[in-house]
Amino acid sequence: MNKNISLSKYRIPYHVAVIMDGNGRWAKKKGKLRIFGHKNGVQSVREIIEAAAEIGVKVLTLYAFSTENWSRPKKEVDTLMTLLASSLKKELKSLQKNNIQLRAIGDLINLPKQARKELEEVIKKTASNDRMILNLALSYGSRNEIVNAVKSISKKVVNNELKIENIDKKTINNHLYTFSLPDVDFLIRTSGEQRISNFLLWQIAYAELYFTETLWPDFRKQDFYDAISEYQSRERRYGKISEQIKKHE
Ligand code: IPE
Ligand code: IPE
Ligand code: MG
Repeated sequence: MNKNISLSKYRIPYHVAVIMDGNGRWAKKKGKLRIFGHKNGVQSVREIIEAAAEIGVKVLTLYAFSTENWSRPKKEVDTLMTLLASSLKKELKSLQKNNIQLRAIGDLINLPKQARKELEEVIKKTASNDRMILNLALSYGSRNEIVNAVKSISKKVVNNELKIENIDKKTINNHLYTFSLPDVDFLIRTSGEQRISNFLLWQIAYAELYFTETLWPDFRKQDFYDAISEYQSRERRYGKISEQIKKHE
């Protein structure tokens, strides 16, 4: 473990989600094309995966491409998809070595063939790894996810497989792309933007939010530890009062 961290091992967030933002601005600041930022962002992805696994995070969800990102110039979208496919291929070895299981959420059907093929392959090959789940949000939009959940729940009602009065929070949860995962504990967004951008709207209901000015390609291990340290200083009250929380600690 990195010597610069002094984190409590008892308060590690179980599920961390990250909006990896600021690649384009990072490149622009250096007088380069946006894609240069995306390429350099890959190293940050590597480091954050490693750092998360090392401190005992169990689920790491990374927002890599949103449903809205399809509206970017075709050239940028194409390059991002090629970068995704080649990174998946390259990272398989280290995922295996680190015992990390890959999963993906989003409208994966819309991904180009090559990216989907690499994705499916890595998911299959890492399926039995159990140190940490790396969950990639690709062509992901929370509103689409909710629409799809409503559709599948409605179908069950129409087919008499489910009674309306039995629909509860769990039913909704079970029909989201994240059905098998717990709620997000900690949400990090880089690049200074303070918005959610259609990411995990249901799942972050009680997450702690963390915004940093650091642009994604500059966000490395120590920045991640700093974020976790901030998380550890927060008091999660869930509507209760402070005294009630302390009693149970
Ligand atoms: C995040 O960086 C990567 C993706 C959304 C794919 P951006 O590409 O959004 O970079 P900025 O926000 O324009 O700087
Ligand atoms: C959010 O970043 C999506 C990802 C990081 C994949 P964007 O750069 O697309 O978000 P907006 O457009 O600034 O809200
Ligand atoms: Mg952005």
